[in-house]
Amino acid sequence: MTKQRVLTGITTSGTPHLGNYVGAIRPAIEASRRGDCESFFFLADYHSLIKSQDPEMVQRSTMEIAATWLALGLDPDTVTFYRQSDIPEIPELTWFLTCMTAKGLMNRAHAYKGAVQANEELGEDADHGITMGLFSYPILMAADILMFNAHQIPVGRDQIQHVEMARDVAQRFNHHYGEHFVLPAAVVDDNVAVLQGLDGRKMSKSYGNTIPLFLSEKQLKKHINKIKTNLLEPGEPKDPDSSAVFQIWQAFATPQQTTEMRQAFAGGIAWGEAKKQLFELVNHQLVDARERYNELMQNPAAVEAVLQQGAEKARAESRKMIAKLRNAVGIRPLC
Ligand code: TRP
Repeated sequence: MTKQRVLTGITTSGTPHLGNYVGAIRPAIEASRRGDCESFFFLADYHSLIKSQDPEMVQRSTMEIAATWLALGLDPDTVTFYRQSDIPEIPELTWFLTCMTAKGLMNRAHAYKGAVQANEELGEDADHGITMGLFSYPILMAADILMFNAHQIPVGRDQIQHVEMARDVAQRFNHHYGEHFVLPAAVVDDNVAVLQGLDGRKMSKSYGNTIPLFLSEKQLKKHINKIKTNLLEPGEPKDPDSSAVFQIWQAFATPQQTTEMRQAFAGGIAWGEAKKQLFELVNHQLVDARERYNELMQNPAAVEAVLQQGAEKARAESRKMIAKLRNAVGIRPLC
């Protein structure tokens, strides 16, 4: 049997934080090391233009995310690691798929519907501030996935609908032009933690409550100290299951360390002490990667070279695929 192909994209519109690490980066790198599947990871920089019109930010985020994955041990020889915009076949496929996508399907996309609803609540015109990029972005995402005939797409819950849309579009294309695409499936890992942020809500850039992954030690300590806690005094028993401090602990600790911390909570550990231990645990796990990250950030040429190599690997496939698809739709030489 051929290996299952696993593909996922990371939008380059922010600085990686502990939630991204625990929820996406760490499990993806672990899976890529098991060697039972073929992994494709890419920097979704075309996608970032939907959210960010700040060119410096887009470039900086691309650099930070690439350096993060490499610093954490992603091996570009065993996975195909590339930047979306280095694959010119992707926008071409996006157009082929656009011409196979029902507008009604895009009308149902949550991200678009959410934006319309927000406008309506504010009494604005329904289309206010909505670009065609936001409206049709599930088609770009479908092209990312279908280009490489990926089977499994590890994503967060908010992205399941987009993978299903990719599947719909693939089916329609296959029906019309012949069996060109594998039908992809979203993979949501329920064992992976969704971290709480500083304020106790889900850690997310859009809430401004994140702990960036590669802060200096001093800054990491400062951020951990900012995690919201209740007013219980040292000696008073504390509930681990409603505490972001405990939850982050659990995402980094061994099962035994987790049991010990649970006991410490029951025994009334002081918040200051729990945070100190949390800092030490997290810092210890990140210290080597942080050093590699800082080195990579000083050396953009090295990171660029890795991405160019990845693009070559990816394009070996995308060139073949687009040639086949061009022929299928009738975009062909005349003789
Ligand atoms: N849209 C995804 C997100 O915001 C990122 C992404 C782009 C992606 N293309 C993809 C994820 C293809 C999986 C497959 O998280």
